[in-house]
Amino acid sequence: VGLGEMNYMFNGFYKNKRILVTGHTGFKGAWLTQWLLELGACVAGFSLYVPSTPSLYEVLELKNKIEKDIVGDVRDFESINNAINEFRPDIIFHLAAQPIVNTSISDPLLTFETNALGTINMLEVIRRYNSELRAILITSDKCYENVEWLFGYREIDRLGGKDPYSASKACAEVAISSYWRSFFRGTDKYVVSARAGNVIGGGDWAKDRIIPDCIKAWAEKKEVNIRNPYATRPWQHVLEPLSGYLCLGESLQRKPVIDGESFNFGPSESASYSVKELLEQIAACWGENAVWQFAEQAKKKGLECGLLKLNCDKASALLNWQSVMGFADAASFIANWYKAFYMEKNDMLDYTRRQIQEYCLLAKQKELQWAM
Ligand SMILES: NC(=O)c1ccc[n+]([C@@H]2O[C@H](COP(=O)([O-])OP(=O)(O)OC[C@H]3O[C@@H](n4cnc5c(N)ncnc54)[C@H](O)[C@@H]3O)[C@@H](O)[C@H]2O)c1
Repeated sequence: VGLGEMNYMFNGFYKNKRILVTGHTGFKGAWLTQWLLELGACVAGFSLYVPSTPSLYEVLELKNKIEKDIVGDVRDFESINNAINEFRPDIIFHLAAQPIVNTSISDPLLTFETNALGTINMLEVIRRYNSELRAILITSDKCYENVEWLFGYREIDRLGGKDPYSASKACAEVAISSYWRSFFRGTDKYVVSARAGNVIGGGDWAKDRIIPDCIKAWAEKKEVNIRNPYATRPWQHVLEPLSGYLCLGESLQRKPVIDGESFNFGPSESASYSVKELLEQIAACWGENAVWQFAEQAKKKGLECGLLKLNCDKASALLNWQSVMGFADAASFIANWYKAFYMEKNDMLDYTRRQIQEYCLLAKQKELQWAM
């Protein structure tokens, strides 16, 4: 399948559409940009920096493939205003953020400025824009006040967040809702927010994330130290929420009922696994050298449960969206991607495109509307 040959998916909506992706140099942004190129879209990217070395953005050589590669800062209103008024997108996917919880503890101001003010700048640019515009604004499942419920959080549940990262995403949600109710409702500006859980996949090299930490160590034949082996998270492969964001973009065109709404994207509710279970799955695919030990403070089971599940009934009912992969599928997609990179020295553009195609095939087999 060549570039653009998937363009019938999502009702053919993305073919030749002008799409601005903020945070396109990041882990999720690079996967999304590649997928949009497969769908035949004309993509511009807007990011401040490349967040890791290596990076999926560089591995896929996205700089040379997209229409416009903009270096800009979402904390600076003029920077994002100029980018949008020059490129004139039909749709914006806003992913640019400071996404690391630990960094939010060491630099809360940067985190609030990037995630809360950055989103407000984006909303203000949209408000002042002189023609029709649609935006999918990416926050996080961490925008919910985590009260350790055993059942999934719904979109109407209380927002909050103890650490600055979570709180900054809750702030972004409040701002989005305020802009929609005060300015956008009933106009030619359409916005939605998307809240996804812990995203995992090949091509992530961010610091302080469990899989990149393990893979980097295993590639160097080192043992890793695991801090919270029993923490349970709604792990999902990166292509799962991205299919949700793409459904949102397309549905925003056809279904006014979703305008101004928020959507959760997570694995099916029965599927929350611990860090330990995730590592065991990935290690089984990785092979030898996949070794770890539990940090001293973590050896007592149940020390940090940190349970957080998402209820995704709304995405299922209004977007016909569902997760496609089981836990084992996701783990093997990930381990195989990194093996191809570190051990087999494959052509990673080709390999990444094949994973997108494989994912679409799984969605087709499940008869999900977007993939037909
Ligand atoms: N990775 C996850 O598990 C996860 C889970 C839920 C939500 N999210 C959200 O998804 C989005 C993407 O996350 P990711 O994992 O790809 O992050 P990442 O760190 O890989 O990428 C972050 C991107 O944001 C850009 N950026 C940072 N500060 C900026 C600024 N001031 N101006 C312009 N661009 C800036 C970076 O250049 C980069 O392109 C973020 O909004 C994140 O909060 C991620």
